[in-house]
Amino acid sequence: MFDPKTTCIVVVGAQWGDEGKGKLVDVLAERADLVVRYQGGANAGHTVVIGDKQFVLRQIPSGILHPRVTCLIGNGVVLEPENLFSELDSLRERGIDTAGRLYISDRAHLVLPYHKLLDAASEKSQKLGTTGRGIGPAYEDKYGRRGIRVVDLRRLECASAILQDRVNRANQLLALMGSAERAHLETHIRLLERLAPRLLPLAADVGLLIYRALQAQRRVLLEGAQGALLDVDHGTYPYVTSSNTTAGGAAVGSGIGPTKIHGVLGVVKAYTTRVGNGPLPTEAKAPDGERLRELGGEFGAVTGRPRRCGWFDATVVRYATRVNGLTGLAVTKLDVLDSFAEIPVGTSYRLNGEVCEEMPAEVDALGRVEPVYEVQPGWLKPTGDARKLADLPGAARAYLDRLEALSGVPVRYVSVGTRRDQIIEVTP
Ligand code: IMP
Repeated sequence: MFDPKTTCIVVVGAQWGDEGKGKLVDVLAERADLVVRYQGGANAGHTVVIGDKQFVLRQIPSGILHPRVTCLIGNGVVLEPENLFSELDSLRERGIDTAGRLYISDRAHLVLPYHKLLDAASEKSQKLGTTGRGIGPAYEDKYGRRGIRVVDLRRLECASAILQDRVNRANQLLALMGSAERAHLETHIRLLERLAPRLLPLAADVGLLIYRALQAQRRVLLEGAQGALLDVDHGTYPYVTSSNTTAGGAAVGSGIGPTKIHGVLGVVKAYTTRVGNGPLPTEAKAPDGERLRELGGEFGAVTGRPRRCGWFDATVVRYATRVNGLTGLAVTKLDVLDSFAEIPVGTSYRLNGEVCEEMPAEVDALGRVEPVYEVQPGWLKPTGDARKLADLPGAARAYLDRLEALSGVPVRYVSVGTRRDQIIEVTP
């Protein structure tokens, strides 16, 4: 997708997350200079398979697996430092040298142990099915203007004083929510003292680094986490994550202006999955749901939870196309459908007997819609070895054409397996 005029591209999930953004970013990163994560945190799990090795990256951008790529974590991310360091250590153990290739925004907020306690306690009543990584409470602190940022580690005495107030407050909330857990100030202070020497050398003005790179005609990939329907503003609220997962979040969360972004690639599975609670209109009934889960290996990369599986939902993807301003689509896991003789595709919904082509704002309404399906013929042949569109069976090409027509955005990539080389680039 890069060309001399298209040097800054956002990659977003256009369903409920887990679409295979990690693989797409890995593929595109071959031609990128910078790869930037801009929202979310350790709730993400981006899987990349290289040869017989599988890497699951939670916070480090998927571009790190390309030796000449520099990776940045933007101000919009809520950073869980201990997880970051274990990720870095595990990459080093597996022969990936990250020295001088990873920087973190000095403006990024930290996720601390008390955030995880609050997340667990509020799950007891809210039952959103969160990943339990403290994401919601960390963003609450950020927007409540009481967060602790990477830059605060430069003045540890101040940070410790702030912590006292935060830990007290967290303990009051825990008591109010009926939790027996308590956060401990000493543990938090020791944690910051331990983190500071390792984190501060990586701290940088990430927005400035991206700006300068773009001025120098370098290629920048902004890597989204989760998916459009989990966006706090545009998703199936309240069954969403706490950040802006849509492309607008890329500018804010990386520290560049929206006019610097030239293209937005939306990643979708050839079917649909969701992990956590909330409506999923095209969820497949047994046995198809289980079959998709088995064939697609649909278990959460972070929590191991089984993902709910269903058919491609064009209403969702049309909506994601609009709210993200998608300029291209990447369809992943086409091979998972290889053995289905018939493949339903949700084209619109029926709500209270009326056709509904747009995403309702009310989550209850989305829970009540009935998908309108059309059935596409399957191809019943393996697609994993296809490297160009012409290698695909006719019915698979027709399926992709239909997804493209229903979504209103051109298909630019098709992924036909987990490996790096199992990708088709569609040249316009
Ligand atoms: P949180 O982001 O942990 O607060 O979880 C809120 C919702 O987003 C839950 O339904 C999670 O399952 C979902 N979620 C968060 N991160 C991901 C992801 O990377 N993939 C899929 N779902 C996610």
